[in-house]
This record gives sequence, structure tokens and C-alpha cells, in this order.
Amino acid sequence: MNMTLETIFEAAHRESAVLFALDEVERRLHRLTAAREGLCARLAAHVIQAGGKRLRPLLVILCGGPGPDREPVLDVAVAAELIHTASLIHDDILDGADTRRGVPTINALWGNHAAVLTGDFLFAAAFGLLAGEQTRGAMALMTEAVQAMCQGEMEEGESLFQTSLTEDAYIAHIEKKTASLLAACCGAGALAGGASPETAAALAAFGRNLGLAYQIVDDLLDFSSDDCTLGKPANSDLARGVLTLPVIYLLQEGSHRAAVEEIIAGRACGPEGFARIKKAAEETAALAYAYQKALHFAGQARDCLASIPYLPSREMLLALAGRVVSRKS
Ligand code: FPP
Ligand code: MG
Repeated sequence: MNMTLETIFEAAHRESAVLFALDEVERRLHRLTAAREGLCARLAAHVIQAGGKRLRPLLVILCGGPGPDREPVLDVAVAAELIHTASLIHDDILDGADTRRGVPTINALWGNHAAVLTGDFLFAAAFGLLAGEQTRGAMALMTEAVQAMCQGEMEEGESLFQTSLTEDAYIAHIEKKTASLLAACCGAGALAGGASPETAAALAAFGRNLGLAYQIVDDLLDFSSDDCTLGKPANSDLARGVLTLPVIYLLQEGSHRAAVEEIIAGRACGPEGFARIKKAAEETAALAYAYQKALHFAGQARDCLASIPYLPSREMLLALAGRVVSRKS
């Protein structure tokens, strides 16, 4: 790319503005949890302080643009991380997971009762931040996304061990479960930053495709990585009966179809069953196929940016689409 000195300087300046905004999000998350009294805040701080990629606030900030009033964008960025964290706390209860972000989960340390309430506590804090006049559009997008997330989790739960699950149904589940929030972060950030409805819609479409790529890679990492690298239990999807893209591929592909179907239908997905299915995936194009799908959605995400005439964070959003598919954790 042919960058003049001015464009390099501008990019660096924008980047420091992004870093400043992310630091501010971190300070506010700390104030909402660690600096508050009560057991809910203390347990919430346990998860928030464990870190995380902060991808959702980053999307809000990048899509919020460099407008003069940063307050609504910061409110949406903090709310996005709170909603995401609440959803993970509830997800860990549903999954019976014992680690997240490299630390023990709330359900593992304090039980499901405390974990449900801590998730609700964060959830309420998020919507408190979105209740202002300037975040009305963001509020609408976020409530829609949360309803979609609940629906996605419900559908995933209903399809456990269902060997008839199609790729389209899988994509529909992950679109609701994961991509809806990333779409809302982009659209809500844009609206809070004063973008036109057209720009907000194009950015939401970027976020939706990014979210699909993100979840497919997440599912691939569950298949092929380890607890230590991920900071959460690996190889857990299949054990719980959640069929992801490599497995759906094997259930449709000739050579291993019958064996894989037998393991799953017989609910024999413990370590031995998992090892057999993983070997089958490695002997076929299952993993490459799923990765190609993730690349496809990352490409679609990049294409969504093309229709936006003025987008200061374009380069960073494009880079993010690349990072999502190359990540290892
Ligand atoms: C992680 O998926 C979970 C989600 C992306 C969404 C969870 C959504 C809910 C529990 C409903 C919404 C609830 C609230 C409070 C907003 P995963 O299990 O595939 O990923 P993991 O490996 O990180 O657990
Ligand atoms: Mg989970």
C-alpha cells in the first residue's frame, strides 16, 4: 500500500485514540465491579479482571469513529463487554465449564446460584448504561441481539447429538449465538458515534460476518487446541453433543459417515470417541473445509466495508477480519 507520511501519522494518531478509549473502557469496567461493594460485584470482578480479548468494545470504538462526543460510544463499549461477560457466565453454567479466561469459573468456585445472579447483575449494569437518550438506537440493537443469543443457545441445546444437523442449521445457530452480538456492537457503536443508518447497517453486516468467522474458528480451536492455550476446556463441544462444522462435514462425507454417526448417535463422545472422530477429521478435508468457511465469512465481512464512503477505521477493521481467522486462542 502506498502510504504518505500524513496518512501514516493519521493512522498512528487514530490508533492511540483507540488505545486511549480501550483504557477508558477498562477503567470503567473496574469502577463498575472491583470498586463496588457486595458479593455480586466481587464475583463479577473475578471474571472481568481475568481479562479477555475485549473484541466487542474494540468493535464499538472502531465503528463509533472519531466524533467529538465520545461518551455515548464509551457507554456502548462498556455495555457490550458487560453483556458479553454476563452471557459467558451463563454459558459456563449451561456447559458446566470449570475454567474461562484461564481462571476458574464462578459456577465452579461459588456454584450456579451465585453465577446466575452475577450474570444478571452485569446484565442490568449494561442496560443501565444504554438507557440514555443518545444510546437509544444502540439499546434497540443490543436488546435484539440478546434475544437472538438466547434463541441461539436454545436451538443449540435442542440439537445436541442430532446427526441430521445440517450446515445451514449450524450457521443459523452460530449467527444467533455469537454473530448477533458482534453485529450489534458494530451497528450500535456506529449509531452512538453519529453515523448514518446506512453506514450503521453496513457495519452491522461486517460484524455479523466477522462473528460467523469468529465462531467457526472458535469451534475449530475447541477441536484441535488444548485447555492451557485456550484458557477454557478444549474438546468440550463434542463431549456435550454440540456438533460443529468439521463433524457436520464428516456426517455428510462418505468415508467416515457411518462410524462417526454411530459414535454420536450412541452418545459415545468421551475421550475415545473424540479421538476417533478427530482422527477421521484429520484424514479428510473436514478441518480445511471448516477453515475455508471461516475465511469465506471473513472475506464477506471485508466486502461489507466497501460501500461505506468515509470510514476512518477501515484499515483496522480489515486487519481485525484477518486476525479473527488467524488467532490461536
Ligand atoms: C459461548 O459459546 C456462548 C455464547 C456466544 C452466547 C451465550 C448466550 C447466552 C447464555 C444467552 C444470553 C445471556 C445473556 C445474559 C446475555 P460457546 O459455548 O460455543 O463458546 P465457549 O467455548 O467460549 O464457551
Ligand atoms: Mg461454552
